Amino acid sequence: MAHKSLNDLSVIPETINFATQSDKRIMVADFDDIDVYHPALIRKILDMAPHAKAARLPIPGACGVKIYDLDQWGCAEADFIYQRVFGIVSQMFDLPQTVVDLSWASVYQRRDYCMPHSHVRSKIAIVYLLDEGDPVDRKKDRFGGRLCFVDPRIPASCPEGDGIMTRPLFPKMKAGSMIVFPSDFIHWVPPYLGKKPRISLSWDISDVILPGAPTKDFARL
Ligand SMILES: [Fe+2]
Repeated sequence: MAHKSLNDLSVIPETINFATQSDKRIMVADFDDIDVYHPALIRKILDMAPHAKAARLPIPGACGVKIYDLDQWGCAEADFIYQRVFGIVSQMFDLPQTVVDLSWASVYQRRDYCMPHSHVRSKIAIVYLLDEGDPVDRKKDRFGGRLCFVDPRIPASCPEGDGIMTRPLFPKMKAGSMIVFPSDFIHWVPPYLGKKPRISLSWDISDVILPGAPTKDFARL
């Protein structure tokens, strides 16, 4: 059945098929109602991006432009996806409470990338791929703009021996894919080489309200 407006949608769909991606702690689900909220959400983000105060980074281009706090944007589509993530995480994990430590959009322009890092304040990380950007010929550019794990705690990444990371893990994702993983898993994004912006949404989830400013974590990148 075709969905026409946000009011037609369930915040949490009746069936969500999370599939593990080489490691049971990394799960991906694809959503099929994205036509209802992606276009307006992408427009909103691209409108805000030129005015966003990007994290101060020592290397121009690293991690793209970030726009924080989806729930403060005054955007119904952002509120919808925020509530969806909150509800799904609350269902999936037996946390004393579900606390969004930080949420943000990342807008990658051509040649933007993100260095290997982890999110050590929180427990659960969510990345939602809103727009893959330009279609990429994967024969010419196999890895550009793809979220990648490089963590020696992932057995599938260490076929040569425990803790010897030789095989980066690239989860299968497309527009409308949501990935859930432990926040401290080391991940990065190789340079995106398309022209149209690539946009992802992220959440750091904790089970307690954490002191201090979460964005300080990014300032160290
Ligand atoms: Fe990250």
